[in-house]
Amino acid sequence: MITLFGNQKGGVGKSTLAVLFANYLSLVQNKEVVLFDMDNQRSIYNKFQAAQVLENKPLYEVEIAEMEQFETINSIVRERPNLITLLDVAGNIENDNLMPIFKGVDLIICPFAYDEFSVGATIDFAEVVRTLNEEAIIIFIPNRIKTNVKYETLESVNKVLANYGAVTKPIPERIDFQRITTFETPASIIQAVSPVFDLIYNGFINQKLGLWAKV
Ligand SMILES: Nc1ncnc2c1ncn2[C@@H]1O[C@H](COP(=O)(O)OP(=O)(O)OP(=O)(O)O)[C@@H](O)[C@H]1O
Ligand SMILES: [Mg+2]
Repeated sequence: MITLFGNQKGGVGKSTLAVLFANYLSLVQNKEVVLFDMDNQRSIYNKFQAAQVLENKPLYEVEIAEMEQFETINSIVRERPNLITLLDVAGNIENDNLMPIFKGVDLIICPFAYDEFSVGATIDFAEVVRTLNEEAIIIFIPNRIKTNVKYETLESVNKVLANYGAVTKPIPERIDFQRITTFETPASIIQAVSPVFDLIYNGFINQKLGLWAKV
């Protein structure tokens, strides 16, 4: 199965959560994972390389790929029913190379924040994705939520997003998210992300893994 981390809004945590989810799937769920870094900034791949210098054995492979290579990736990974493929892309919904990706993935994980600009961009993103792909499961993750802030629009935003997919529990804003690697997740972060990842894995991925092969 193929999962995309996407949102046209920048800086919402797409790459961070892609790495943390890959760590979770391999460490907690013992799954075979491959993570494709399709953002030209290569932030995940650089992290992966830096950690590899220390001669650690990686939990999973991180590969660089261009968005144009999606169809090839798609046909290769569909041959492997138990493999979970994660894609990290840059924002920018205007890039035509994103269209085949939106059409071809099974699951879209969309981190967002409750501020006005983030919500607007997130709804636009969901609208485009849903128009192109009626089947894909879309999961919205409220990220970087501050415990001392009252989010006035929370309920109304969740209601709108529910028209497109599921909204998870929030992930808190925590300074230690800066310290994540593709080799391990600090214990304090495992605590913060586990409830959300358990829900996504148990609710949307586990029982469907086989079904998504060779669609
Ligand atoms: N829950 C969190 N708490 C604190 N910092 C976070 C959290 N999630 C992400 N960050 C930080 O926010 C910044 C942006 O995150 P990230 O690069 O994952 O976003 P992105 O959506 O991939 O951005 P881009 O659109 O540029 O690819 C990073 O510095 C990351 O460490
Ligand atoms: Mg990113």
